[in-house]
Amino acid sequence: MKIFLDTADTQEIIRAQILGLIDGVTTNPTLIRKSGNDPIDVYSAIADLGIPDISMEVYGGLDEMHTEALKLSERFGDVATIKLPMTKEGLIVCQDLSKRKIRTNVTLIFSIPQAILAAKSGATYVSPFVGRLDDQQVAGLEVVRGISGLYQMKGVNTQVLAASIRSVQRAVRSFYNGADIVTMPFSVFSQMYDHILTDKGLDIFDKDIAALNKEN
Ligand code: E4P
Repeated sequence: MKIFLDTADTQEIIRAQILGLIDGVTTNPTLIRKSGNDPIDVYSAIADLGIPDISMEVYGGLDEMHTEALKLSERFGDVATIKLPMTKEGLIVCQDLSKRKIRTNVTLIFSIPQAILAAKSGATYVSPFVGRLDDQQVAGLEVVRGISGLYQMKGVNTQVLAASIRSVQRAVRSFYNGADIVTMPFSVFSQMYDHILTDKGLDIFDKDIAALNKEN
């Protein structure tokens, strides 16, 4: 049950890492753009924080993606997971990287047939986009469940990385539906440990400790 942070913001990673529960980070061009930094600088900064698994997205045509993937892998070593789009070119690059034992994350997965092809291409991870499916009135969690169930039934090694997570409820339900990993924004991760009854309980204990101290 791994938790990845879905961010290119190093300050968020530092804040989340205090708990010591972050297994990896996923980035994408939108998140990198939002950070206002160059992709390589972002990956270097995240690697310097000790994150062991960073999804780095490549784009363009087949040759461009392939060249960039090999460059990133050479530069960042085992920390790099090459994120490839669910396209014909992406799957071809995925097959080569898989032969070279380079970790891959096939992204923009919206259906079970796509997940079958990604697994057959040797993908380390597939990323079904729960939130974006929900936006289209398709149950994103059902897609997670379908892929996870099929992989389990067929003994497939590819891991299901639930992405596009917008609430704690979706994060938790993704695990229930078979996801091996859930990548979530910092805002969702921060809400994982919040509960009104924990706050209330602490308040009562604090008051009783103060009263006890006065009595003794
Ligand atoms: C992560 O790998 C995805 O790129 C990300 O979760 C997409 O999230 P969004 O649908 O909120 O943009």
